[in-house]
Order: sequence, then C-alpha cells, then structure tokens
Amino acid sequence: MSLQERVVLEAERRFHARPNLVVRAPGRVNLIGEHTDYNDGFVLPMAIDRAVWIALRPRKDAQVRVHSLHFDQTAEFSLNRLEHGKAGWLEYLKGVAWALQEAGCQVQGWEGVLAGDVPLGAGLSSSAALELATARAFAAVSNLPWDPPEMAKICQRAENEWVGMNCGIMDQLISATGVAGHAVLIDCRTLETQAVPLPPDTAVVVLDTATRRGLVDSAYNERRAQCEAAARFFGVPALRDVDIDRFDKSDGLDAVARRRARHVVAENARTLQAAEAMRRGDTSELGRLMNASHVSLRDDFEVSSSELDAMVACAQGQDGCCGARMTGAGFGGCAVALVRAEAVGGLVTTVANCYQTATGRVPSIYICKAAAGAGVEA
Ligand code: GLA
Repeated sequence: MSLQERVVLEAERRFHARPNLVVRAPGRVNLIGEHTDYNDGFVLPMAIDRAVWIALRPRKDAQVRVHSLHFDQTAEFSLNRLEHGKAGWLEYLKGVAWALQEAGCQVQGWEGVLAGDVPLGAGLSSSAALELATARAFAAVSNLPWDPPEMAKICQRAENEWVGMNCGIMDQLISATGVAGHAVLIDCRTLETQAVPLPPDTAVVVLDTATRRGLVDSAYNERRAQCEAAARFFGVPALRDVDIDRFDKSDGLDAVARRRARHVVAENARTLQAAEAMRRGDTSELGRLMNASHVSLRDDFEVSSSELDAMVACAQGQDGCCGARMTGAGFGGCAVALVRAEAVGGLVTTVANCYQTATGRVPSIYICKAAAGAGVEA
C-alpha cells in the first residue's frame, strides 16, 4: 500500500469519515551548490520521490490535531495560543502555524494523519518536507493563495526562529518548487528558479553512510559566521558577489577564512557550469564538477567526514559512475552519485560492499527520481 493510501485509510479510521484533502511535500537531494545558499549563491537540487503526506479535514475551531504514523503519536495545539513544547515533530507544525500568522495569514484548524518516507536526519530534508506539507495543509483549509517561494520563506522562518536551526533557503524552496524529471537551478538571492532536465539515461543514487553527527548545528553556524566575515573583508553583502578572479588577486584573509571563501566562490561557479553541462547533456562534465565539489567541501570547507569520503571514493571507483560527492550540510548523512542507467544495478551492490568493508557500517542506498514540489493530491 502506498503512503498516500495509508494516511487516507488511517484518517478514515480515526475520523469515521473520508478526509477531504491529501497534501504531499517532497524531500530533496542537492546535486551541486553546497553551503552556497546562505551566501546568496546558486544551488542545483532536485525534489525526490520520497515525501511527507498528510490526509486531513478542516475543523470549525482553532485546534490542529495530528496523528503521526511514524511516531504512533497523536498531538494537538491551539492556533489561538502557540507555545513551544518539547522538541519533536510537532514543533515543526507549530512553527509553520506561527510563521504563517506572523506573515499576516488567517489560519484555520484541521485534523489529519501524517506519514513520510524521507529518512529522518539523513540530510534529505525531512524537516523541510514536513514544513511544506504543513504549510500546504494550512493553505488548503484556510484558502490562502499558494505562492511557492513565499511559502518556502515562511517555512524557513519557522525553522530558523521557531525550531532554532539557522538553515538557508534551499531545502524549503526545492520542496516547494520541485519539477518532475528536473533539477532546479536556484538563485538564492532573487529566489528565481529554472528547471533543468536531468541527463537522459542516468540515475541519481543517494548513498546514506548511516552516520549522523550531533555537532552539525554548531559547525554549520560557525561556517556561516566565517563566510559572513569573509564577505565583510571583501566589502560585499555576501560571498556571491566575489568572483574567482577577484578572489585569486586578494590578499590579507587569514588561512582558514581564505579556504572557506574559496569553497563558496568556486562552488558558485561550478553550480552554474553544472546547470550548463546538464542542459547540453554533458554527463562527464557534470560528474567532474560533482567530484571537484566534494574535494572542495572536504579540504576547503571541511564539512565532510571519513565515512562520507569513503562512500564517495567507493562510488567514484565504479564503472558507470559519472561523479559523486557528499550532499547536504555534511559531517554525516548522505552522498549523491550520478550513474549511467545501465550500471545502476551493479553499482548499488558493489558500493554497498566497498563501503561496508571500508567502515564496518551498512549503508542504505536509494535510487531517486526527481519529483514535483509540494501540492494537493487529487
Ligand atoms: C542544510 C541547510 C541548507 C544548506 C545546506 C548546505 O541542508 O538546511 O540551507 O545550507 O545545509 O548546502
């Protein structure tokens, strides 16, 4: 049974009536453009065919009552008095309600059943998927206009200010604006998006290292601060405004700040080149750029880990692998590989064995299709 069917069935059982609505919002994998979003730069993610689903129906009062199939928990809150509770899945829903109200939206209550198949905490944006599904639910029951970039900003605010994770805009924006069969080139300054078709006869393979690092948040904030300091050094609003030429000619940044800035400046250029290569169907060039991105994240930005490096090396060593890199914030979680379609089956087994031999850990491997952004299902 599909997840959509499961949430509908469970909602029927709990409400003794059919839910009026089903909403879905996808997770994502980023193909290239890492740690560039909060530098006003470029990213090239795709929404994946793993998502959060909610089957729901409106309520006449201001209560939101939700059952999570994954946690087997029912929880509720009042839209008239939003208060922080114990950290957990419900805080994302409250955060979105709060951010919608802050944006001046009149939100109505609803009750629903929630489920998802985006692995939690793996770097595939399960939180952004939960936020966008929640926003889609509120928009549907409250008759709010659905403007994907605006909704992405509201969800980012929920994550930054209610949940307390200082993320950039990439995850929420791709969950809102994904296009089936396409990656999306996002300008994180203007929030303009361009759908770029994925190269034919290739597959996007997500390689989960089965490691999760607790220190991601503090390291992430430290990197952000280092990037902001480097932008101040160059006298620009964000590192987006520095090109490679100017960077190469500059002098006076301390060694660490220089490495951080070099990653961002070069990664922005690589991301634009990758979108071009994709449009031309030049998979070798795309793969080369992904490999270069990994080296830069490992050596200059220093957000990889020994497990991510092992996974990437295992993937890059296989026939049919065009390129591979760590994806998402780093320190653990997933790598992504672009693989020729005919080689996928063999590669999955060999990479799993190679990684297990190198690290003693058992990876999870997902072959992902590019999916559409958050929506109401028929
Ligand atoms: C996390 C954040 C994003 C982005 C990436 C790194 O996924 O949520 O905003 O900064 O890390 O590219």
